[in-house]
Amino acid sequence: MKMIPRFAGRLLEWYRLHQRDLPWRKTRDPYRIWLSEVILQQTRVAQGLAYYERFVEHYPTVHHLAKAPIEEVLRLWQGLGYYSRARNLHAAARTISIQWAGRFPASYDELRRLKGVGDYTAAAIASFAFDEPVAVVDGNVFRVLARLYGLYDDISRTKTKHKFKALSEAHMPPQEAAAYNQAMMEFGAVQCTPQKPLCMTCPFRDDCYAAQYGKQQELPVKSKKTTKRKRYLSYRFFYRNGKLWMQERKQKDIWKGLYEPARIEAATAREMEQLLQNEAPAALWQQAQAIEQIRHLLTHQELFIDIGMLHLPPDAALPPFLKDGGDWFTPEECDALPKPIVIAQYFERHRHLLHE
Ligand code: ADE
Repeated sequence: MKMIPRFAGRLLEWYRLHQRDLPWRKTRDPYRIWLSEVILQQTRVAQGLAYYERFVEHYPTVHHLAKAPIEEVLRLWQGLGYYSRARNLHAAARTISIQWAGRFPASYDELRRLKGVGDYTAAAIASFAFDEPVAVVDGNVFRVLARLYGLYDDISRTKTKHKFKALSEAHMPPQEAAAYNQAMMEFGAVQCTPQKPLCMTCPFRDDCYAAQYGKQQELPVKSKKTTKRKRYLSYRFFYRNGKLWMQERKQKDIWKGLYEPARIEAATAREMEQLLQNEAPAALWQQAQAIEQIRHLLTHQELFIDIGMLHLPPDAALPPFLKDGGDWFTPEECDALPKPIVIAQYFERHRHLLHE
């Protein structure tokens, strides 16, 4: 393969002129870089900024994070999804703070051993904080290299990741790993965008396979289709004597450790219908106010949610199937609990009903 001449120099020149001013680029603190990268795996820069600022404010060092109660961490993470990332972050902070006396792992290989730190995050921290010459490969880097070089390898394959990593490292100036990696990602995010890349003003226009042959939309190639598992959830906020009944989700799944109202869950729409007709709580369930149907898309799941609010008389008993594991919370306490974002938003929209 013919390498693009002076690639890194031209890229770094582009970066000097076009980079966005982002807080995590002004620090060498591996802890803050780690925070920013884990947050940015979940969301775009525009939304990630606010989460980053809040985390840094609450937990300025790894020790602060390590000491925080997991519920508080999950509450700050609320809305980013993929809550196991927040749990891993917290667990890894405890390892660093307690077992390693606050010494942050300072190489790619050591970083890789941390809970929840994969190839991408280890490379990002090692290069941004310690200038270790390892290439980061994220969606941006895949796109830039696939288009420039006309690479039709399937980017969902591990083999392709190794190939692209090696290619990026072949261009990397060993003394400027941090700037080079940031520049690659920024170039993908700002210039070589997924839709309507700015080829007219691109410094690599004359070298780029995709620009030359009009293949921008076909590259990169991603074959793996994600089929989404469907889940049916019916929720009721039970409200009695000024308090709401909430339970912690214990199952090992996407929402583990978050709190939710009373729940009936089914794998199919039909099963849900039957549960709601046959189960003892059905009649009660249907008396709810403000029932909403919400479809919520996650990366690997499609959730069909039906949710409502139910006032119970002061002496009313809970349906027996709810008695285990939950507790009663004031609305203010309920605010502070980490909740799936759909539930938090519903609660915000309808909490005024509690006073009627
Ligand atoms: N997305 C992931 N990491 C990033 C970074 N360091 N800067 C901008 N966007 C990013």
